[in-house]
Amino acid sequence: MMALSRTFDRPMTLSLPRIGVMAAMPEELQALLEAMPNQQPVQRAGRVFWLGQWHGHEVVAVLSRIGKVAAATTTTILLTEFGVGEVWFTGVAGGLGERVRVGDVVVASALVQHDMDASPLFPRFELPGSGVSHLPVCPDRVARVADVVRWALSPKQLALGGALTDVHLAELGLPAVPEVHTGLILSGDQFIGSAQASGALRDALPEAMAVEMEGAAVAQVCHDFDVPCTVLRTISDRADDDAHLDFPRFIESVASRYALAMVSALLAARQG
Ligand code: ADE
Repeated sequence: MMALSRTFDRPMTLSLPRIGVMAAMPEELQALLEAMPNQQPVQRAGRVFWLGQWHGHEVVAVLSRIGKVAAATTTTILLTEFGVGEVWFTGVAGGLGERVRVGDVVVASALVQHDMDASPLFPRFELPGSGVSHLPVCPDRVARVADVVRWALSPKQLALGGALTDVHLAELGLPAVPEVHTGLILSGDQFIGSAQASGALRDALPEAMAVEMEGAAVAQVCHDFDVPCTVLRTISDRADDDAHLDFPRFIESVASRYALAMVSALLAARQG
């Protein structure tokens, strides 16, 4: 028992808090784990948390699991059992913003649970009891993260890191240089896959850039624990009727490589 609790203590020798890195897809987690030396698996609540060090930082990497409740549980365990003081989430999302293309990346500046509706008791989207619907991310953090991600996903850096050397983005109908947007991300327990559903979200929240299934839940838990949260999403589809992309191929050949490039660059850029 003693040894276990020692493992989970916040590291005393490093000035920065341990980071929890959550990946939405197994392929993304696998790409991260291959780059993280000497990880140690620890099981909790049917999940495997991978403890290791990467670029001199203490990291706990884990599959988020899909949907808001599952991701909130995973986040709570990261914060309460592993003592992480910062959470990063990487995954894919459907694009909602007009200029947000498949292959681009969105860094969340705020997150909303689009399926939260306790009206007429509370305004639509408001988290009951909290008085807020939009969970904000500190603007300085968003700007810093977006700068590092733009650099990490520049053609030169991707080529240097060996990412995408065997992938022809044009063949997948993707932009050669992904645009990195910052803005509102929506989360809900539905895959949005019709023009009608995405249109309804755009009508209700016109500033929304992307839609996914976990980010706002992770942000809510982090907000309650007063821990910073970063959500990065690679756009895999336009949340409409058009399945113009081979999803598994996109995850394997693009999203997981972007996740690795982004997380690695953010860790390397992290300072005390
Ligand atoms: N993740 C990736 N694409 C998505 C979509 N269209 N809706 C919800 N989650 C997603």
